[in-house]
Amino acid sequence: MSLSSVVVTTTPFEGQKPGTSGLRKKVKVFMEKHYTENFIQSIFNALGDKVKGSTLIVGGDGRYFSKQAINIIIRIASANGVAKLIIGQLGILSTPAVSSLIRTHNVLGGIVLTASHNPGGIRNDFGIKYNIENGGPAPDSVSDAIYENTKKITEYRTTPKLETDRLIDIIGTTTFNVDGRDFVVEIIDSAINYVSLMKEIFDFPKLRTVIRGTETRPAFNVLIDSMNGVTGVYVRRIFVEELGASPDHNVCRIIPLDNFGEIHPDPNLTYAKDLVDKVKDNEEYDLGAAFDGDGDRNMIIGKKAFFVTPSDSLAVLANNLQCIPYFQKNGVHGFARSMPTAAAVDRVASKLGKEMFEVPTGWKYFGNLMDAGRLSLCGEESFGTGSDHIREKDGIWAVLAWLSIIEHKNMSVEDILKEHWSTYGRNYFTRYDYEECESDAANQMMAHLEQTIASKDFVGKSYTFGGKTYTVSQADNFSYVDPIDNSVAKNQGIRVLFEDGSRLIYRLSGTGSSGATIRVYIDSYEKENVLTDAQVVLKPLVEIGLEISQLKKFTGRDAPTVIT
Ligand code: G1P
Ligand code: ZN
Repeated sequence: MSLSSVVVTTTPFEGQKPGTSGLRKKVKVFMEKHYTENFIQSIFNALGDKVKGSTLIVGGDGRYFSKQAINIIIRIASANGVAKLIIGQLGILSTPAVSSLIRTHNVLGGIVLTASHNPGGIRNDFGIKYNIENGGPAPDSVSDAIYENTKKITEYRTTPKLETDRLIDIIGTTTFNVDGRDFVVEIIDSAINYVSLMKEIFDFPKLRTVIRGTETRPAFNVLIDSMNGVTGVYVRRIFVEELGASPDHNVCRIIPLDNFGEIHPDPNLTYAKDLVDKVKDNEEYDLGAAFDGDGDRNMIIGKKAFFVTPSDSLAVLANNLQCIPYFQKNGVHGFARSMPTAAAVDRVASKLGKEMFEVPTGWKYFGNLMDAGRLSLCGEESFGTGSDHIREKDGIWAVLAWLSIIEHKNMSVEDILKEHWSTYGRNYFTRYDYEECESDAANQMMAHLEQTIASKDFVGKSYTFGGKTYTVSQADNFSYVDPIDNSVAKNQGIRVLFEDGSRLIYRLSGTGSSGATIRVYIDSYEKENVLTDAQVVLKPLVEIGLEISQLKKFTGRDAPTVIT
């Protein structure tokens, strides 16, 4: 049967500006009449002629409203001349899996339905993110074009009679005829493509010996926690079916739920406390790992919940990449980290003689460097680690990389870190988040910081707390010129650098869905690893950070909402 598209009149919504990682709002906002439709049509409008005859990947973390959003996308795509949509079964695709599919199928891009680590369910968040043809998040130029279109949209095209009921439930291909053209919807297994990519990168038979043990080497006991997010699908295939992990003892929360079981699916010491407690209480576990809702973040802990900061994790991986087949084959090019990430990896780069890049917060800034062959491994302090195998950070990849190192070195997580610190010194790191602050107060605090660092005597000033003195060597509002396309990103956060290599960073979150979130990043470098509690070592710099920003005065907050 031939179907016809129609034009629906609409008016713009305010605030459809994609943040650090796509458009994120409460589910109820996306449910407003025309809201989701406007945003999807604005993506197509921004892409222009490229849409006609194109193929797009569609999928996400399965959170509440995903299916409705996919049905809207199918109808609007069909009416805009898209030739084919490749959709994960039940709408399920992790963010790394979308990136891999875009690259494997060489298509125009993908639409990822996720609000990442933000809670899901009808009262919580939904999100839509556009990824470009290299598999990575849209760069600012594309996001800005989408936003400009949302401000002037007057109509969208859709095919109301296209039957979407249960369409995404079953693997298979359906061809519709819309306005006289073929429009294909292919529903695929959510995991096959990603699992085969991981098999190319890592030595699965070797990793299996780590998980199962051998005659000469005891099994390395892991506990992998999917936090009720999308990675459950991949964890079962990879860890249980391929690597022989026990479905009862080595994995948990591996069934994706549309509200993540009412938890905050963010792998850090606060929100992944369940995992931390289990590993702490059960000394048989050698490694614990958790992922966020859409599978791009990871947290690694060792025996007795020995915590590996994401900044250290990045540095350790950088130092040991040669034991992973992918890097043996492709070589190791440069390293990169987001600006607030502790500078531990910089020391590895300089020892190994690799190029090192410091980019603004957000994975989209790594893509150009990877495409240009100058970047192999990168990470963010926000529990993101990844490589140039795709253009998103990748939680499962990070755990497989850690297991490869463990197989190679035959050492515990803690011993690997201790060895690393004894070579390079240690970057003690913590991040204080003040969530849902009043926006005006947060902006005033940032303005105050701008003024403070601009004063003539700021550089050279010393701050002392608890017997420790830090002297300012440099301060700025970070801006970045992309070395590949020379695009400029300004106002990326206030940096205060100290003479001993320690740093304080302040920035406002670009991913929150209400109010303003202030993030204060504290990175204190010690040449000698003093091996005490990180929060104790960091206390003086934390206090200095609060003093410089006058955070309490501006926000009225005594304590952060979350410490990571
Ligand atoms: C946060 C993290 C950032 C990460 C982003 C998407 O962004 O800080 O590193 O890339 O989520 O996962 P923010 O809310 O700070 O803008
Ligand atoms: Zn995520």
